[in-house]
Amino acid sequence: MIYLKTEEEIVKMRAACDLVSRTLGEVASRIRPGVTTRELDNVAREFILDNGGHPACLGYHGFPGTLCIEVNETVVHGFPSGYTLREGDIVGTDCVVELDGYHGDSCYTFAVGEVDEKVLRLLEITKESLYKGISAAKGGHRIGDIANAVQTFCEHHGYSVVREMCGHGIGKSMHEDPEVPNYGRRGIGPVLRPGMLICIEPMINMGSKNIVIERDGWQCRTRDRKPSAHFEHTLLITPDEPEILTTFRYIEDALRANGGRII
Ligand code: MF3
Ligand code: CO
Repeated sequence: MIYLKTEEEIVKMRAACDLVSRTLGEVASRIRPGVTTRELDNVAREFILDNGGHPACLGYHGFPGTLCIEVNETVVHGFPSGYTLREGDIVGTDCVVELDGYHGDSCYTFAVGEVDEKVLRLLEITKESLYKGISAAKGGHRIGDIANAVQTFCEHHGYSVVREMCGHGIGKSMHEDPEVPNYGRRGIGPVLRPGMLICIEPMINMGSKNIVIERDGWQCRTRDRKPSAHFEHTLLITPDEPEILTTFRYIEDALRANGGRII
């Protein structure tokens, strides 16, 4: 069941998406070698609560963090922990905020200090693939058009697309229909209609597409332990170009201020 949102609901979605974007801006200001992923998680949780929101991942089917922490070979759903970030790591921080009954969802993968050129390239291409998917998400197009745009672009650059995890609809629930895969054929799947809200979130691997899920049932990493990158926006389908409700602007401002690398 795909729920089209009313104008009032869209106003609330914009607010939730702004809060999750600002939360990732706070996280960005703390990214450096020597910080633990638990410290990042605490910053995110406190910022969300201070701003009247609710950290939607925390406790979701038992998930133990406000952020999903994705260090190097971790694809998605990594736990915040005592792990100390090191020069050369990459770390994805995926966050969902609930505000006034509606959800905003976004993810950015950061370079920690100086990162290998080849890994930076993975980050750049993954981020660019998100915008390729967004460009394909026009009213009247289909989910398969998004999926194919992401896949074609990433595979052209020699990377592989994780199959098991997808983007999704979003609204009163964190995960709604439709599923938004990052691979597939053009012209198939549900039609994109104005008023739909979806998350596009390419999860792209340097090596093979295969993943394993740890025995905790959550933490997902590449099978070959090569790096994986992940970027995500929440967007509103309109009759033409989508409106991107989350933004990386706060992240970029923070990175400029603390000398971090903007992907
Ligand atoms: N951003 C993730 C997603 O798009 C959030 C789910 S993590 C969970 O699905 F812990 F909440 F499950
Ligand atoms: Co998501």
